[in-house]
Amino acid sequence: MRKIALLTSGGDAPGMNACIRSIVLTSLRFGLEVYGYRHGYNGLLQQEYLTLRAKKVENIIQRGGTILHSARCHEFKSDEAAKIAAKNLDTLGIEALLVIGGDGSFRGAAHLAKHWEGQVIGLPGTIDNDIYGTDATIGYFTAIETALDSIDKVRDTADAFERLFLVEVMGRQAGFIALSAAVASASDQILVPELVKNTDDELENILAHIEAVKKRKGASSYIVVITENLWPGGVTHLSEILSKKTNIECRPVILGHVQRGGSPVSQDRLLATKLGAYAVEAALAGENRVMVVERNQKVATAPIELAWQQQKPLDPYLVKIQQEFFDLLNRP
Ligand code: F6P
Repeated sequence: MRKIALLTSGGDAPGMNACIRSIVLTSLRFGLEVYGYRHGYNGLLQQEYLTLRAKKVENIIQRGGTILHSARCHEFKSDEAAKIAAKNLDTLGIEALLVIGGDGSFRGAAHLAKHWEGQVIGLPGTIDNDIYGTDATIGYFTAIETALDSIDKVRDTADAFERLFLVEVMGRQAGFIALSAAVASASDQILVPELVKNTDDELENILAHIEAVKKRKGASSYIVVITENLWPGGVTHLSEILSKKTNIECRPVILGHVQRGGSPVSQDRLLATKLGAYAVEAALAGENRVMVVERNQKVATAPIELAWQQQKPLDPYLVKIQQEFFDLLNRP
């Protein structure tokens, strides 16, 4: 193998730059030429690329975002688009394409593989942590820190006013950020898609618990951490309902895209560095249609399809502890 290419796709995640750096340095170590496509799959369709040398990846390990830029490319779902991409890769003589992104980006890679003879390898990069088969995804740890820092700050003002706060965190359809940030901040309640089956029943639950806490402690702050896209009408709507029904002022806080930014924490930099290096080694070993993963501190490859065919479960022990503490502290 002489030439390898990479791109970042979908929602950016802190640590993507660390991963780019690791891919570039490992490739150079093996004497490969490295091409970086800009703007995700859009760049692949437009043949928008740059050659990546060691100088290009200096001083980027600590930076959030992605120096290659990212995009969501809906057009890439078509066979025509995959064929154009295959032709562009062949024109440059590229033998392996590494894709840093989430499950949507991996679907794109698998789709390309149907029309291209080169190898495709996915590297899990998303704050959502919703990729089955890897203990964590690049960016997840930093997103928890960001959410945690915000919830700690919300707690100060919530305490001062003895108010209810609903803090909405990202995660798309997965509760990993919510669970971790809620447990680490000792938030009072957590609402995640994996555990909330019926929002009408859940509303009754929330009200009963707030009432129980009010009886036990008197006026106090109460923080609920909730995953985005979960509540019909959103957290602003839920906050209005809670204010009315409890007679306690309730405020919604939507953390939003701040969770995607910032300098990656050490765990994300290290994971990104390991997965980046391992992806190049996997490419050199001839692997194809796989993603690189880390389980129990061991890097490995897994079929790329697992990313969308299997749902990654929340950490059952963390869920259990959270529920036990919740039951203890919210007992009527
Ligand atoms: O997948 C990462 C993510 O940040 C999700 O948590 C969120 O739902 C989504 O991307 C937001 O996407 P966009 O930046 O396109 O609005």
